[in-house]
Amino acid sequence: MSTDQTAQQALTPEPADSAADWWRQAAVYQIYPRSFADSNGDGIGDLRGILSRVPYLVQLGVDAVWLSPFYPSALADGGYDVDDYRDVDPRIGTLADFDEITAALHDVGIKVIVDIVPNHSSDRHAFFRAALASPAGSPERDRYIFRDGLGENGELPPADWRSVFGGSAWEPVGDGQWYLHTFAKEQPDFNWDHPDVRQEFLTTLRFWSDRGVDGFRVDVAHLLMKDLPGDLPSAAELALLDETSGRHPLKDRDEVHDIYAEWRELFDEYDPPRTAVAEAWVSTPERRARYASPEGLGQAFNFDLLTADFDAGQFHSIVTDNLRHSAASGSSSTWVLSNHDVVRHATRYGLPPLHGRDVKQGAEWIIAGAPADGVDLERGERRARAATLFLLALPGSAYIYQGEELGLHEVARIPGDQRQDPAYTRSLAQGEWSSDGLGRDGCRVPLPWTTKPPSFGFGADGAHLPQPEWFADYSVEAEEAAPDSTLNLYRRALALRHQLQTEESLEWVPTDDADVLHFRRPDGWEVMTNFGEEPVPLPGGQVMLSSRRVDGELPGETTVWIVR
Ligand code: GLC
Repeated sequence: MSTDQTAQQALTPEPADSAADWWRQAAVYQIYPRSFADSNGDGIGDLRGILSRVPYLVQLGVDAVWLSPFYPSALADGGYDVDDYRDVDPRIGTLADFDEITAALHDVGIKVIVDIVPNHSSDRHAFFRAALASPAGSPERDRYIFRDGLGENGELPPADWRSVFGGSAWEPVGDGQWYLHTFAKEQPDFNWDHPDVRQEFLTTLRFWSDRGVDGFRVDVAHLLMKDLPGDLPSAAELALLDETSGRHPLKDRDEVHDIYAEWRELFDEYDPPRTAVAEAWVSTPERRARYASPEGLGQAFNFDLLTADFDAGQFHSIVTDNLRHSAASGSSSTWVLSNHDVVRHATRYGLPPLHGRDVKQGAEWIIAGAPADGVDLERGERRARAATLFLLALPGSAYIYQGEELGLHEVARIPGDQRQDPAYTRSLAQGEWSSDGLGRDGCRVPLPWTTKPPSFGFGADGAHLPQPEWFADYSVEAEEAAPDSTLNLYRRALALRHQLQTEESLEWVPTDDADVLHFRRPDGWEVMTNFGEEPVPLPGGQVMLSSRRVDGELPGETTVWIVR
């Protein structure tokens, strides 16, 4: 590979395990609570279900869990439509249950991260109800983004903007006014210039920090600040605006960092300081690094591996660039291959190359299947295991999405009338086929814990999204019994990572094969991934772990961890 592979990326000298720095190289497990474990048999996962699985999390070897929203919600967007930021959905549990799982996780040394959704509330939030009950121009309406409609009686939307999930981004309220919703119409965007909105979130962050939460994942952190002129630009005009200028009317505005500076002051009042990670789909790594600054949220998701093909060149440049940017921002990098918004990576890697297309478009390829025609499932799994072992050896924190440790595939065959995701239902209702294709339900199907239907141990009865028969083979029970299962690979990898992960540095070792990447971590830990299909020679040293059986050579689509 290129000569820059040889450059030593000596990053931060800080020890990985000081109490305030626990997050820098943490393995964080994302739980989508409604689909993890159901303790009361109503088909919906809940907090006591999570409590019952603490031993599983310990055995898996994760350092923290991130809980996707568990707040009261009508589930117009899987819980990202929050009615009340400081309570638990009664279908999921109570605040007392939350305290109990936090204590149980802390007792076993696992940190707790909760999801904060500050760009929008649900349309059932007290602020939005007050806005609807108050007239145009009232202070209550000013907490959201209302505009007069166009046309004689305001019967036309203020602009032709489309929401992320399809359809108009503006919804009428019946008196000539319309409100902005970047996502579903049940998710009105807040006006962050309003002091009440700022206070609502400071109160919320304090509420959860006081309950012992260790950190926050900040939903669409780049969208909060908006600056809308009196005459709104058209969608076509908006599309031409520079998203890296810091002055785009809707995205990644520079002032958003004032909000996070204020949050940082609050986080730093705690010992250890509360942490945060931004979900910021911004245009460049430089813009992303601003969210990760120590004066702001401290860390930001890097989705570059998640949007890449299984390709040595792409992986190499992504790692090199991100380590450089995170070091420059004073943060550590984050690495992600799957989450609740994208096609699971075991399936994605069995699809034709993305070539930079939207990862969510992957779903279109599996329209027919279960998982499906057009997907090479075995290859997908092989590559997923190799990519995961590569990722878990990188300096920085690793995010693992529930079920990926089982090598679970996307569930493609969900009948349309059982799908829940607005990315599917809204685009269908609007007669549009959004770039999301089938939507995101296929990666949110409740986990299989045992080999037995009706719900594969998820709960006593059914599950809120249909589980396919092949889930039995991917269940925790089946995989625990199979020494070479993906679950056992993750367990071994996470245990070893704990022993090996020291300083945040990585040194590329040149190879003479463009399909092979080789890097060294401190203390003799070496990692080699063969992205090609043909076997290549192994380097010297003892193979500690491999994503696939290794016999003398490094097979195609395989990663090995070696010690010297
Ligand atoms: C984030 C979440 C996604 C949600 C959206 C709106 O991207 O990850 O699930 O639909 O924000 O809150």
